Amino acid sequence: MDKPLTLLNHIAPSFPVPTLHLHDQVQTLDQKLTINGPSKLSGHVHISGSKNSSLAILAATLCCSGTTKLRDVPNLSDTRAMGSILSSLSAEVEVSGDEVLINADGVSCVEPCRDRVKEIRGGFFVIGPLLARFGEAAVALPGGCDIGSRPVDLFMRGLRALGAIVELRDGKVEARVRNGRRLVAGKFRLDYPSVGATETLMMAACLADGVTILSNVAKEPEVIDLAHFLNNSGAHIEGAGSSKIRILGQSQLHGTECTITPDRIEAGTFLLAAAITRSCINISPVFPSHISSLVHKLQTAGCRIRRSGRDSLEVSAVCENGDRVFRGFNVTTSPFPGFPTDLQPQTMALLTTCNGLSRVEESVFERRMTHVQELQKLGARIDLSGSRALIYGKEKASCFLFPSALVGSELTAMDLRGGAALVLAGLAAEGRTEISAAGHIYRGYEDIDRKLAGLGADIQISSSTASVLA
Ligand code: EPZ
Repeated sequence: MDKPLTLLNHIAPSFPVPTLHLHDQVQTLDQKLTINGPSKLSGHVHISGSKNSSLAILAATLCCSGTTKLRDVPNLSDTRAMGSILSSLSAEVEVSGDEVLINADGVSCVEPCRDRVKEIRGGFFVIGPLLARFGEAAVALPGGCDIGSRPVDLFMRGLRALGAIVELRDGKVEARVRNGRRLVAGKFRLDYPSVGATETLMMAACLADGVTILSNVAKEPEVIDLAHFLNNSGAHIEGAGSSKIRILGQSQLHGTECTITPDRIEAGTFLLAAAITRSCINISPVFPSHISSLVHKLQTAGCRIRRSGRDSLEVSAVCENGDRVFRGFNVTTSPFPGFPTDLQPQTMALLTTCNGLSRVEESVFERRMTHVQELQKLGARIDLSGSRALIYGKEKASCFLFPSALVGSELTAMDLRGGAALVLAGLAAEGRTEISAAGHIYRGYEDIDRKLAGLGADIQISSSTASVLA
């Protein structure tokens, strides 16, 4: 009979929401965005810190003794949920504006609040640092966008390769170090370059005994941002951003200060907002190399995109080819540096306003096409078969004032990025578009209604029951 997990006995106390001094108003799923289009955008939009980097780095603070200070942490329901997960483990979490102070020295249990973990995929990533630092962990299977089966087999097999006993029991993954002391370094090749598994195994290996080699890993900028944070905390990680990462385990890591990298998916979404409304805007901060696959596609479609500063881009979607419409293009999503799956729905929205036939293939997640039926409600012409969509764009019929044939309607956001696609389509559509369940969108876009209004869009947020954002 396996030795019962000790710290587990201390099941997470029912914790109050941590003292996050953020918006008094919590976004709820039953919010509604109302957009009157078509819109013309202009001016500059500020890009917030990356949601996905923040989630991984917040989890990684569990590896560190002392206090860690993070800057540019976006105010999102997902980052608040991660704050609650850390608090449920008795870590101290203090937020003021976009700065977060975390001290995990007081962590007294290794089973985070199940309800919070079920809200976000990133919640599961704490299994790595908890197991590495405390020798055991029990984490519920995660939630997050319903865009595919999203198993955690690579996490479990990777942790076993670091000498842990890992079992799936009652909807949670229980893990403990075999020798009762530390994880033991090892070699693990991921069958698929999973972002979450790469990040979680990298965090665990930082405190393992010896040199770990992880191969066929994810190369996303968020993985590099996490490695940068961990190395600043005293870790020895080499190769982040390549397909092989080498980690020399340390006995402990220390608190540090770190600024979260700008959100490349938010940046890409605003580039697409400019394109779909045939507008010209500036966005910053952004690292062009983080969204080069999108920039390339938009340039082939007819966009002019240029650096307008050290970390800023100007996108002008005034058609250069003189025929006043945009050329369609084909997209197949794949791991970085391929075309990001998190920009697929928003790109499809643009393609419904382009000229000619375009093809979109989703190869990362098996169920990320729920936005198609909603776009069709606006009059988009899309044939869907499985994870492949054919988009019949506009012909030369339309006049240059209203480049889009989309017409406003009542829509429902099904998930985060699908919801963002509906916002973009609503900006281009003629008339009024209402998007319910808009809370999905605020999981990944800080103040999206205010930012778009700042660019000249006619957009409001409201909610049937919950408080309305001022
Ligand atoms: C991260 O999710 C992001 N989330 C996702 O962003 C993003 O879409 C995804 O990476 C891909 O870029 C966070 O960082 C919190 P994966 P993650 O593991 O880690 C399969 C957004 O909109 N897989 O790289 O969950 C899996 O089923 C979100 O911001 C296994 O088979 O993605 C999927 O098909 C959505 N076994 C593929 O790998 C495993 O153990 C890629 O998933 C793990 C994953």
